[in-house]
Amino acid sequence: MQTHDGDRCPDESLDPQNWEAFRQLAHGALDEAISYVQQVRETPVWQPVPENVKHRLKEPLPLTPQGIENTYCDFRELILPYPTGNIHPRFWGWVHGTGLATGILSEMLSAAMNSNCGGRDHGALYVERTVIDWCRHIIGYPSEASGVLVSGTSMGSVIGLAVARNARAGCDVRAEGIRCAPKALVTYASKEAHSSVGKALELLGLGHASLRKIAVDEKRAIRPEALLEAIKEDRQAGREPFCVVGCAGTVNTGAIDDLAALAKICRDERLWFHVDGAFGALCALSDSLRPLIRGIELSDSIAFDFHKWLYVQYDAGCVLVRDRQLHSNAFATRPDYLRHLDRGLAGGGEWFTDFGPELSRSFRALKVWFALKEHGTRRFGEMIEKNCRQARYLARLIEADPRLELLAEPTLNIVCFRYRPPGANGEDVDQLNRDIVADLQERGMAAPSTTRLNGKVAIRVAIVNHRSRREDFDLLARSVVEVGNQRTSG
Ligand SMILES: Cc1ncc(COP(=O)(O)O)c(C=O)c1O
Repeated sequence: MQTHDGDRCPDESLDPQNWEAFRQLAHGALDEAISYVQQVRETPVWQPVPENVKHRLKEPLPLTPQGIENTYCDFRELILPYPTGNIHPRFWGWVHGTGLATGILSEMLSAAMNSNCGGRDHGALYVERTVIDWCRHIIGYPSEASGVLVSGTSMGSVIGLAVARNARAGCDVRAEGIRCAPKALVTYASKEAHSSVGKALELLGLGHASLRKIAVDEKRAIRPEALLEAIKEDRQAGREPFCVVGCAGTVNTGAIDDLAALAKICRDERLWFHVDGAFGALCALSDSLRPLIRGIELSDSIAFDFHKWLYVQYDAGCVLVRDRQLHSNAFATRPDYLRHLDRGLAGGGEWFTDFGPELSRSFRALKVWFALKEHGTRRFGEMIEKNCRQARYLARLIEADPRLELLAEPTLNIVCFRYRPPGANGEDVDQLNRDIVADLQERGMAAPSTTRLNGKVAIRVAIVNHRSRREDFDLLARSVVEVGNQRTSG
């Protein structure tokens, strides 16, 4: 219908015209999603997106309605069969968490509420505050510490390091930018620190060259005496050491810095102590692993992920900052249109937008809240321990086979090894191992990733997977040898 002023749909919304039909389709979709996860072991870990599918996905902007049925059909045919694969029991690439069956539910319910968690007074914010309170408890931070849920550790480190920069620059960085700092600020982290630390420094206007990479010991943990030496050198050269980033689980091998020693150095030298605890921070959930990260509770800020070792659906990370005031000093703004009121929807106390760069924020906290309430922290601690036992099991399988070489004894959940044919030279072996990994992925058998350790390309298995079983690691070790043999015998 068209009204006299040209409004073609005066009272229409974008809701379904037939709610019953929508309900039926949605129930079917939910059933399929549950079966998809339930039966994942029987499917290939990964399969490449076929050319014709890529082509079909590159469709023109839809100007007219295609309807929910057609759209869902396209999703089932063109998208659903081609996942990253990290929900599969034999996915161990990068540090991709598995996801939880009930994540299907919490994500669906969060979509139904469609809360904007930047601020205001509504249920979702109380859930996020509770989740942050639980995180403080897990890490051992004081109850006054602040926190905010983020997309992941990369963003958490941007926030933690922004607070550090503003607190230590010696001028008003928010007003004038980093050029007002009287001296060049220097950050320190081990050579094994994740690239997201350098990226955060780039974003913060400090540049990745302001990151001094400190030598590591035989366990790939930072050498505290080398750190002290570097701090001294920089001070003598007129630079301003301001922050140390400690690693609670490095991406390459899961190495853990001596966080208590770093905390002491930072206290003595008056530096900010930030921890990248992307996955390792959650060792705090296990009584037997917690001693490995002793000192984490002494940091000034910490970033870590729920989507890694809490197995929660992407994306979900957290940053905690010991000094709430410094945290909000770095991000709070008060334009009239965001004024907090004493009552009504604009009330409710602190707003999360004052603790990070984002104003509009999704209800990430719900899936974490569901996960922690459903399983409890002890169960997660047991799963984390199981993953570490599986890493040791795989390491023993590798050591037992003369065609395989263990490249680093696992500290936690990461195993780096390679296939080593007799008599082959370095570069050939490097390419061979890359090919083995690609073959395993393309055959849908398993998905490890690769890295380089001591100049050698390694097959890297990072276990943040609650679905893996021992038999999966038996299959992996066997398959690496089989594929390696096939490639070298041909
Ligand atoms: C040690 C470490 N730090 C930081 C990151 C970045 O985390 P995210 O991908 O959640 O931003 C990762 C990712 O694997 C990591 O392993």
